[in-house]
Amino acid sequence: MNHSEPPPVVALRAAGMVFGNGVRALAPTDLAIGAGEFVSLIGPSGCGKSTLLKLVAQLHEPTDGRIAWWGRDVRRVGEAGRRLAFVFQDPTLMPWADVATNVRLPLDLARVPRGEASERVVAALRQVGLADRHAERPHRLSGGMRMRVSIARALVTDPDLLLMDEPFGALDEFTRNRLDEDLLALAADRQLTTLFVTHSIGEAAFLSSRVLVMAAAPGRIVAEYRIEQPPHDAATRLDERYAEHCRCLSRLLHEASGGVGGRA
Ligand SMILES: Nc1ncnc2c1ncn2[C@@H]1O[C@H](COP(=O)(O)OP(=O)(O)OP(=O)(O)O)[C@@H](O)[C@H]1O
Ligand SMILES: [Mg+2]
Repeated sequence: MNHSEPPPVVALRAAGMVFGNGVRALAPTDLAIGAGEFVSLIGPSGCGKSTLLKLVAQLHEPTDGRIAWWGRDVRRVGEAGRRLAFVFQDPTLMPWADVATNVRLPLDLARVPRGEASERVVAALRQVGLADRHAERPHRLSGGMRMRVSIARALVTDPDLLLMDEPFGALDEFTRNRLDEDLLALAADRQLTTLFVTHSIGEAAFLSSRVLVMAAAPGRIVAEYRIEQPPHDAATRLDERYAEHCRCLSRLLHEASGGVGGRA
């Protein structure tokens, strides 16, 4: 057996981004995320959270430095080596297609044979608690259910790395809490590594093993907060340690925002 450390799932090596209009969205940043970590990004609007996620997903090419997945330069890993899935705030479902067809989309694009694809769709829908809604059209579902479909569509490709950009930001707090609990269970069950953007301190404190606090102009990581990971469930939110994590993160976020109150 090789006892050397496994490579991080994702590594940013002085990776940064200046857009064509001259905006420096992300200062050169070093970051390594290990297998099984649940890392959240919080910070004021415009501090580069989505940019960082898109760099990791290779939706943007960094203008500084480089990014490695599983220890290999992303440019050399290629499409076949992609083991990541991206979930956005908007579930972006095809309104004319039923739930199962929406979830099957990435498999159809990858030309996975019909029988195998159907089995994987059923399994993914079961995991998000929507097995009985497979024939429904999206407009007949609640916002929370539509987001579950979006998560099933991400899981159906069996990713190792899940990138989520404010996935539950548009949902009411009750639904969001429920989805957070289910997401944690899923991430543990599937041994996912997750990079998660949120505006909610409570959500970051509930989900994360590590929270990165970012500041704007230029976008950069200014603080890192680690959270020991007890088994999380709804009761965690009543825990005094959870309240303490929320307080610490509030303070860090306040400092990252310039330490002044007032306008967002
Ligand atoms: N495609 C683009 N072209 C030019 N500038 C961009 C582009 N995308 C983002 N920016 C700029 O980069 C900076 C970071 O944007 P980004 O979307 O990463 O912030 P964010 O932290 O995700 O904000 P929010 O919390 O509002 O979603 C902002 O100043 C933004 O205007
Ligand atoms: Mg954003």
